[in-house]
Amino acid sequence: MNLGISGKNVLVVGASKGIGKSIAIGFAEEGARVTTIARSEELLIELEAEMKQAVDIDHAYYVSDIMESDANQLARRLIEDRGIFDIVVHNVGGSLVSRNALGTLDEWKHAWKFNAGVAIDMNNVLIQPMINKGWGRVIHISSISAEMLRGNPLYASAKAFLNAYVTTVGRTIAPTGVVMSAVMPGAVAFPGSYWDKFTVEDPARCEDFLSHHQAANRFGTTKEIADVVLFMASEQASFMQAALVPVDGANM
Ligand SMILES: NC(=O)c1ccc[n+]([C@@H]2O[C@H](COP(=O)([O-])OP(=O)(O)OC[C@H]3O[C@@H](n4cnc5c(N)ncnc54)[C@H](OP(=O)(O)O)[C@@H]3O)[C@@H](O)[C@H]2O)c1
Repeated sequence: MNLGISGKNVLVVGASKGIGKSIAIGFAEEGARVTTIARSEELLIELEAEMKQAVDIDHAYYVSDIMESDANQLARRLIEDRGIFDIVVHNVGGSLVSRNALGTLDEWKHAWKFNAGVAIDMNNVLIQPMINKGWGRVIHISSISAEMLRGNPLYASAKAFLNAYVTTVGRTIAPTGVVMSAVMPGAVAFPGSYWDKFTVEDPARCEDFLSHHQAANRFGTTKEIADVVLFMASEQASFMQAALVPVDGANM
């Protein structure tokens, strides 16, 4: 199947490792021109070299802590430098925020900003030019926690908000040719990840978690998430407006 991604101008926010890295490499392998953002410059340099091997075009990376900098302004600069994006993937987020259900407003705001707010601030700049062109794909990396509402309450709530954002905004812009959607991964392990460490430090609890919560009885791989994201960024995803797609080994 030709995904029609070759030559597309792609932005992956949070791309230096894990799921985001697999997504960036996947786009390069499809022949896209990829711009990446993360805090770790060394990892972004390595990633750029890897992407160049896949397709030798002008990929670029931006070193930025998007929680500490003005994400709206960064998005403006990105368009000035790199042009209007065809495809944007918002991957920054995670459960390593406060776990205190009775935490302060600042703790809740932090979890919300990390998992939804920064992406919303960037979309304020990135989406209108796509609408003007009449084509675009905006894919958010949510979590199956958004549906199951288990685990860290701040994380699950922030991702649930993100799902509500994708549903409502995705519907609003549905007639424009810009398809907004989200992928909801289950537990995904890769070297250096939270789950990878958990497997080493507490294998019994880890096995228990998998057998009770992930019917596939294993962790997902970053490629299993990236492949779905590539499809959702493709021409073929033209009727997937506001879709929330689980890729979770049947979470339960
Ligand atoms: N892994 C899972 O089991 C799982 C399950 C469900 C959902 N998800 C979701 O999938 C997404 C990716 O998860 P992951 O496990 O691959 O996470 P990860 O290993 O923590 O990677 C996150 C990426 O975002 C970047 N990043 C983090 N904070 C940033 C900041 N302040 N500014 C700029 N870049 C930042 C990281 O790079 P730097 O550190 O270099 O900045 C990294 O490239 C998250 O939204 C997560 O909630 C993951």
